[in-house]
Amino acid sequence: MSRLRIALTKGRLQDKSVALFERAGMDCSPIKNPGRRLIHSIPNYPLDAVLSKAPDVITYVEHGACDLGIVGKDTIMEKGGSFYEVLDLGFGKCRFALAVREGADFYGTYKYRVIASKYPNVTRAFFAAKGMDVDVIKIEGSVELAPILGLADGIVDIVETGATLKANGLVPIETVAPISARLIVNTASMKLYKNEILDFISKCEQELRDSK
Ligand code: PRP
Repeated sequence: MSRLRIALTKGRLQDKSVALFERAGMDCSPIKNPGRRLIHSIPNYPLDAVLSKAPDVITYVEHGACDLGIVGKDTIMEKGGSFYEVLDLGFGKCRFALAVREGADFYGTYKYRVIASKYPNVTRAFFAAKGMDVDVIKIEGSVELAPILGLADGIVDIVETGATLKANGLVPIETVAPISARLIVNTASMKLYKNEILDFISKCEQELRDSK
């Protein structure tokens, strides 16, 4: 059996991915005690894990540097790319939402609107689908500041509990898209290592079914 290589998104999705693998019987102790190493072999299953930032997970899988990846739908929607999205893993659940300052009448004006977001492609696609021409400003972090500082009329951002919006006097007025972690597969690997990949997918599916 060939060893597969999987890219995991560091942080919250990494922890949930490891929990899933452990429930499926994989020994993930090397990933849980990573030290400075970036690649970790699972001793009792033919899988090596690479820990990386979300957009890099897509880059590695798209170029075949990794056969598989676990990444949020948010990054998939923003970055796009050519790969198979084979499984909704059901964790890392949140949503993209349009949020505005409390009391603001976002749709009640004909004025040209400015939207700030870390996700300009998602934002443009959302408003294009409504036939609305808006100005999208890319922000790298803490996008909630943009309406407070008067830079934007609204933001499109990830909302999980809603606490960050609330703490900054913003309210979500529309869901743009639901988000959760997805398993993605390199298109060539899917042909070359079909049996190994199908075995891995079915192990994950089984665990997701059992934990429902
Ligand atoms: C996201 C998002 C919000 C926050 C929302 O940031 O940009 O700031 O989470 O979560 P809440 O609805 O539970 O308050 P994240 O923590 O992913 O960090 P980031 O700024 O690096 O994107």
